[in-house]
Amino acid sequence: MGYKDINFPKGTKFLVTGGAGFIGSNLVEVLLEKGCFVRVLDNLSIGKKENIEEFMNHENFEFIEGDIRNIETCQEVCKDMEYVLHQAAWGSVPRSIEMPLLYEEINIKGTLNMLEAARQNKVKKFVYASSSSVYGDEPNLPKIEGREGNILSPYALTKKVNEEYAKLYTKLYGLDTYGLRYFNVFGRRQNPDGAYAAVIPKFINQLLNNEVPTINGDGKQSRDFTYIENVIEANLKACLSPHESAGQSYNIAYGGREYLIDIYYALTKSLEKDIEPNFGPDRAGDIKHSNADISKAKSLLGYSPEYSFEDGIKLFIEWYKENL
Ligand SMILES: NC(=O)c1ccc[n+]([C@@H]2O[C@H](COP(=O)([O-])OP(=O)(O)OC[C@H]3O[C@@H](n4cnc5c(N)ncnc54)[C@H](O)[C@@H]3O)[C@@H](O)[C@H]2O)c1
Repeated sequence: MGYKDINFPKGTKFLVTGGAGFIGSNLVEVLLEKGCFVRVLDNLSIGKKENIEEFMNHENFEFIEGDIRNIETCQEVCKDMEYVLHQAAWGSVPRSIEMPLLYEEINIKGTLNMLEAARQNKVKKFVYASSSSVYGDEPNLPKIEGREGNILSPYALTKKVNEEYAKLYTKLYGLDTYGLRYFNVFGRRQNPDGAYAAVIPKFINQLLNNEVPTINGDGKQSRDFTYIENVIEANLKACLSPHESAGQSYNIAYGGREYLIDIYYALTKSLEKDIEPNFGPDRAGDIKHSNADISKAKSLLGYSPEYSFEDGIKLFIEWYKENL
């Protein structure tokens, strides 16, 4: 069962940080459809107002432009909230290697501020975005919680520290925290532009514009690409999970494994583009292969992802063609 049948009492109050971004705005859309009240905190540093434009006049929606680095703002936005879905952060491994200090400020301090504000305001559940990058150089596949390697980037380190703080907040203060280690999420509203864009929207956009995409490395790297619907399901199910499942982190993926080069040719085929890629150097901080064991999330959160990579990519391309 996915998330379609999950319901919350009408007007249940959610705070989505980073709600103007890719994953956050998708969470907002689904929660509003379910009759919940949704407050978004976002400083629009990376996210875009156009991602939430359609919700602005919704009676159950409130947008607060502000920064998770400011503790007063965090305390203010947590007031009266029942659930916090904390997505705000700066992503991208290569960018974090360029600006480690900023990542410390935003991802570590910002998340600690949110944990503290959630605790003070007695929210029921604090569900937050972690990342598969916490597995670092661990070579064994599939990646399984509890078997992590050495961290390879400041970004990954920030997510690891987030997990440690969240665990402590559950242990010391009884705040129910759930860390969701997303694996390469893709889907509607994902930003295709810029040097730090995720690979799938970037390739689709470039191919549609008849540009030649560059694959970093030989294209034989593999990832557990995860469609956005599965991530929404994980967030909603974490909110409904018992206290016993709190204070832990969970792999959130489909449990598959796609090679970048195969994805490239699947995209050229479905977009009917006869364009050969360029090949560039490997990216620092990247791992060669990643796929997830999702049995922990299945058994403790009731997670059961419904969308395979193939299902997701079909839907994403359809959306892309209609919306851009
Ligand atoms: N997309 C993925 O594949 C993926 C994979 C693993 C983890 N994650 C994590 O999931 C979360 C959401 O990712 P996304 O892909 O939607 O990214 P995104 O960049 O689209 O969204 C992040 C949002 O956070 C906001 N934000 C950044 N700094 C802020 C600050 N200081 N104060 C308030 N808001 C701020 C941005 O403006 C943006 O709207 C992030 O924590 C990211 O690290 C994403």
